[in-house]
Amino acid sequence: MKRILTGIKPSGDLHLGNYFGVIEPLLELQERTEDELFVFIANYHAQTSVHDKEALERNSYNILKIYIAAGLDPQKSTIYLQSDVPEVQELAWIFSTLTTMPELMRAHAFKDAEAKNKDINVGTFYYPLLMAADITLMKADLVPVGKDQIQHVEMAREMVRDFNVTYGDFLIEPKEMIKKEIATVPGTDGQKMSKSYKNVVPIIASDEEWKKAIFSIKTGTSPLGEPIDPNTCNIFALHKLLSKEQVPELEKRYKEGSIGFKESKEILIENLKKKFSPLRDKFNSISNKEILEMIEGGRERAKSIAKENIEKIRELSGIIS
Ligand code: ADP
Ligand code: TRP
Repeated sequence: MKRILTGIKPSGDLHLGNYFGVIEPLLELQERTEDELFVFIANYHAQTSVHDKEALERNSYNILKIYIAAGLDPQKSTIYLQSDVPEVQELAWIFSTLTTMPELMRAHAFKDAEAKNKDINVGTFYYPLLMAADITLMKADLVPVGKDQIQHVEMAREMVRDFNVTYGDFLIEPKEMIKKEIATVPGTDGQKMSKSYKNVVPIIASDEEWKKAIFSIKTGTSPLGEPIDPNTCNIFALHKLLSKEQVPELEKRYKEGSIGFKESKEILIENLKKKFSPLRDKFNSISNKEILEMIEGGRERAKSIAKENIEKIRELSGIIS
């Protein structure tokens, strides 16, 4: 049985890109009975960019609620908060004493952050150490991540090798698990949907807000009656995700010019509501207290694995406890 583990950074509201890019693939992994799935909220990682107490708390609760409302099942998967397992900080420290500055300076995420802003915080530099500790303290085998995170998993493997050579074989070398290529979900302006581009369709919103988001999708200018190329239409790209059964019919109508942008958007809004209003209702019905109760079992499980493994790590590295 393989342990599959992934972390989600609670750095903002979730959008359709996150849903189709991360949540749906995780729900599929959860059904693999031969493996076990660990999912945690990387709230300490989020502190490298979020310094607003209310925002960090709200994002953390909201993401937990969205995942549970979408179908992540605390009975099947181990769900917890990074902060439930303070031992990761301890292991990150040990990794920091085995890793050189030049190794960390090669991290793309660090280089990008530094290119944008020279005054980056030490946490941003330290980020890969904490991520390696998240993964290896739980002795995870596989780590589902987007392409941008592959290097961080490689770095985790190097840290494990250094640890095992220095102190004796104990930690497991993790492997990244790259999702089968799900096309990047485009935003309302046609670029990759991303909270940094302000082009998102949120997962949780009122009907009015959804309508506004869909009506803000940029389209061409073909007059009604003219054929539209579905492959270059930003609305059609979302139909492929939200209107799967209607896609052949819509494609036909696009090509023969019997549908306009307005009607296409209206159909999309209906399908968005159909898919996400049950999730939204469930989300709204869960309180912060209830969500913590729901994941109580996962939190306990993560804590007990961490405790057992950190004791061994301390012993191997000469830390008296
Ligand atoms: P954002 O770009 O909005 O800041 P994040 O970087 O927080 O999104 O995304 C978290 C994860 O969600 C990413 O690792 C990526 O796999 C997935 N994701 C984000 N945007 C998209 C998108 N437009 N299409 C597919 N997946 C996405
Ligand atoms: N760095 C990851 C991201 O930005 C989040 C993360 C933190 C993570 N710790 C992890 C992912 C451990 C996988 C495993 O998306």
